[in-house]
Amino acid sequence: MQTPPVIEELVATCQAALGGESPHQTIHAAMVDLFADPAALAAAIPPFADDEVATSRRGFRLGGEHIAHQSDDLTVMLLDTLPGVLQPPHDHSMNVVIGVFEGTEEQRFWARTDGGVAPAAGRALETGDVIPLGARAIHAISSPEGQAARAIHVYLGNIYDVDRSIFDPHTLEEHPMDSERYDEYCQHA
Ligand SMILES: [Fe+2]
Repeated sequence: MQTPPVIEELVATCQAALGGESPHQTIHAAMVDLFADPAALAAAIPPFADDEVATSRRGFRLGGEHIAHQSDDLTVMLLDTLPGVLQPPHDHSMNVVIGVFEGTEEQRFWARTDGGVAPAAGRALETGDVIPLGARAIHAISSPEGQAARAIHVYLGNIYDVDRSIFDPHTLEEHPMDSERYDEYCQHA
């Protein structure tokens, strides 16, 4: 997929915000404005073609993923979450802003405790919702049966080049994130 102009504009907005005083808040505010008309946003962002949707080695049909921008201080990604897969809990080691322009992205959260992590209250991000996540947030996303979620994820760093954690979905044991373990820890919803 070619990066749609509306996402190129968002990338430029995020880059400008990174030079300012409170980039996380500024990017969050810009995303809230952008997602105020989610139907217009959905119309401006073409759906992924079938051959752009990857299947994991264990047979999970993962959602489409398009990296619109990747640099040391910013990653901007278009992301589909397909029904039928429960992501494993993971963190990001950087601030994040997530906006949903179609469908519902279910967010499960965990909080760090003295001995590890424990489940916390989740939240369903409905169409048009935007949330900021802090660098220590631990989450996993999924989508309800029968309906994919389409979203933009903005990471205030290079999400593909950072030490971060993934958690065993059964024991919640913490491990360094890697794609093999991610695949291993995906579960059928
Ligand atoms: Fe995440």
